[in-house]
Amino acid sequence: MSLRIVQTAHYVPPKVVSNTDLTKLMATSDEWIRTRTYIEERHVSTGEQSSDLGLQVARQLLHQAQWSAASLDFIIVATMSPDALSPSTAAIIQGQLQAYQALAFDLNAACSGFIYALVQANQLLQGPYQRGMVIGAETLSKLVNWQDRTTAVLFGDGAGGILVEDQASASQIVAQDLRSFGTQGKALTAGYQPVVSAFYQESSDPAQKYFSMDGRAVYRFATHEVPQSIERTLQQTSWSAANVNWWLLHQANGRIIQAIATHLAQPKTKFLMNVQHYGNTSAASIPILLDESIRSQKIQRGQKLMLSGFGGGLTVGSIALIY
Ligand code: ACO
Repeated sequence: MSLRIVQTAHYVPPKVVSNTDLTKLMATSDEWIRTRTYIEERHVSTGEQSSDLGLQVARQLLHQAQWSAASLDFIIVATMSPDALSPSTAAIIQGQLQAYQALAFDLNAACSGFIYALVQANQLLQGPYQRGMVIGAETLSKLVNWQDRTTAVLFGDGAGGILVEDQASASQIVAQDLRSFGTQGKALTAGYQPVVSAFYQESSDPAQKYFSMDGRAVYRFATHEVPQSIERTLQQTSWSAANVNWWLLHQANGRIIQAIATHLAQPKTKFLMNVQHYGNTSAASIPILLDESIRSQKIQRGQKLMLSGFGGGLTVGSIALIY
């Protein structure tokens, strides 16, 4: 028995913010953003929380599969921008769906979150669980300082997800590689929670709430560690890089994706990309890309996929799977 991706779906908030729109808020230009990142526009929430975006995906998934919410055994939400520390975004969605049988929890591995969550789902399916939902949902706009051009131009909001089932079929996760690099954590931070109580008053720095990033360090990390993670994953399979039909990398920056394709000496056309329209949606980026590529019939059943995420932590994670 093995993990089969039964359905995919995505949802993004309707408001689109173009690069030109951003020039009204900060000293930047469409040309700078496009040439450094390939990003043209992103979707920004005007009030919807991560659970609202995830719930849209969850309902769509159940509708497409014609599954009842009560038939779900688990719901995992990968997010670095939860509605609250408690309840978890996954529990909120579980409650809204009335998925009474489903255990639900959030997982935070930043932009690697969907990969980490899919590995967890695969483990749960080895146990007594048959059916689950894995969602990446982010409202990064609430972690962005809209005056800071070094980060504000990069991020977007959205959610994507999949239904998975333990099923005897050719579909399966073939190999995986997860790594974390906590010593480099300061290269990308957001959402600091200060300790404040009747007994201790921290002098709070409001900037720590927002994204702070050593962009060049993250760029170097991604272009160095992602190819290594992919190579470790391939080594566990009988595949060579040339056997991979489609590469779905975290959509942080088009230049990073192109650099990784060059490093692996694989055709850039096999590296699917939609960062132009969504920006970096962290844990949501890979499931949004997966859903779009399945809907456009690029990805077909039986094809070999390599999924790879990287980001805050710092973290990296790759999965080789047969769709
Ligand atoms: N518009 C105009 N100018 C800008 C902007 C902007 N939005 N942002 C920075 N600049 C300026 C800088 O201030 C700098 O000016 P200076 O030379 O006068 O100091 C100049 O542009 C060049 O800046 P660099 O940082 O050298 O630009 P670089 O080519 O490195 O590109 C970028 C920056 C796009 C951030 C790149 O480093 C990058 O992509 N890094 C990886 C980021 C990433 O992927 N992060 C997400 C990780 S996923 C996660 O977990 C959330």
